[in-house]
Amino acid sequence: MAASLPQRFKVDFDPNSQIFSLAGTIRPRSIDEIAESIHALREAIDTVRGVLYIDVKRLIQMNNTAFQAFIRVALDACRERSDLRLIVITSSVVSWTTRMFRHLSTIEPQISVEVYDSMFYPGQDYFEDTSFIPILRAQTKLTWRHERTILPRHGMRPGIAVADICCGIGDFAVLAQKEFQPSRIVALDHSKPSLAYARKVAAEFGVTGIEYTYGDASEMLLEDNQFDFVSCRHSLQVFNQPELLLKELYRIVKPGGRVYITNEKNSHCLGEPRAQSIQWTYNELARLLSNFEIDVEFGPKSRRYLADTGFDDILVESFMVTNLDGDPQDFADIIAGWEKMFADMAVRHGETPEFIERFRQGFRDHIFAALHPKGYAGWPIWAASGRKPL
Ligand SMILES: C[S@@+](CC[C@H](N)C(=O)[O-])C[C@H]1O[C@@H](n2cnc3c(N)ncnc32)[C@H](O)[C@@H]1O
Repeated sequence: MAASLPQRFKVDFDPNSQIFSLAGTIRPRSIDEIAESIHALREAIDTVRGVLYIDVKRLIQMNNTAFQAFIRVALDACRERSDLRLIVITSSVVSWTTRMFRHLSTIEPQISVEVYDSMFYPGQDYFEDTSFIPILRAQTKLTWRHERTILPRHGMRPGIAVADICCGIGDFAVLAQKEFQPSRIVALDHSKPSLAYARKVAAEFGVTGIEYTYGDASEMLLEDNQFDFVSCRHSLQVFNQPELLLKELYRIVKPGGRVYITNEKNSHCLGEPRAQSIQWTYNELARLLSNFEIDVEFGPKSRRYLADTGFDDILVESFMVTNLDGDPQDFADIIAGWEKMFADMAVRHGETPEFIERFRQGFRDHIFAALHPKGYAGWPIWAASGRKPL
């Protein structure tokens, strides 16, 4: 059952998962204007046994008239049915909902609140930690040399509307803005420390016009069909449900526009000398991260994922970031950051001290290869894009 109303809000009930969802902006002048939606909530309550989930993750605004009307139905139902539990699913992205519904749960114990994105994917605390910021800085410094020439083939050009979803510290958005002068550029991420850093850097360097946005890429508040070019770099591989992100990227790009993704295949990282030790560590890295539902082998799967989402005209290419791309120390800095972060994850996963020592040694050997006057070290990346059909 779904009812779309003229006030730019959506009410939906999925009886299979017992989820009643409210999304958009609900600002009626009188209850009559939302009578249909109130009735839909009553019906949903009558249908369910046990728990009814009330999903308000995309409820941008609700005025007091609407809030009181929905709440009245919920409170009456709790009084009439002692078996009923109402779990309100909020998101930190729309922070007022958590405050308002938490207050309600103090009045009615059958109602509780779950902030769904407080720990919504297994690697989240690593990627939203400030210690990740220097790694992102070092990575983009080297990947940009390649991407600035690759991007036009994937649809990037001056004057278009661009969104960089899962932007991290926003370096890519700054570089893209300087190089391609888009008419609009939105940079969205769920890491508050990374966004704070991005805003600080932009302010210090006088960069204006980038719309930094706190959001969840799997439940964006951005409207449909807005952007000519949407990028999502190194992030489908870290979020445990990449198909949800792709569905959202597809939704916000205009028909005829392109979605550009980059991902890695870390088991193909390489170096000389000490190739074997390096190879062992990166094979183990892929295995270790799969325990956190992080797929660092995603790169070559890009074509399949884009096709399954509905994109056409898919373009896939790969490039190798190496120690010869510039100052070898830049490459070494990336690997030093990885060693620390991934060794922490190995400890958390309960690996033995012997494993951790050998694991670390592979990263150190990669750094050795990068800094050796005759050495070679590489990190392969897959860049792919697809067009949303007209
Ligand atoms: C490996 S980093 C890549 C960052 C940036 N694109 C870059 O290449 O430097 C992954 C980023 O994805 C973000 N992320 C992961 N899942 C997300 C989600 N569901 N919504 C928004 N951001 C998300 C993380 O906060 C992190 O900043």
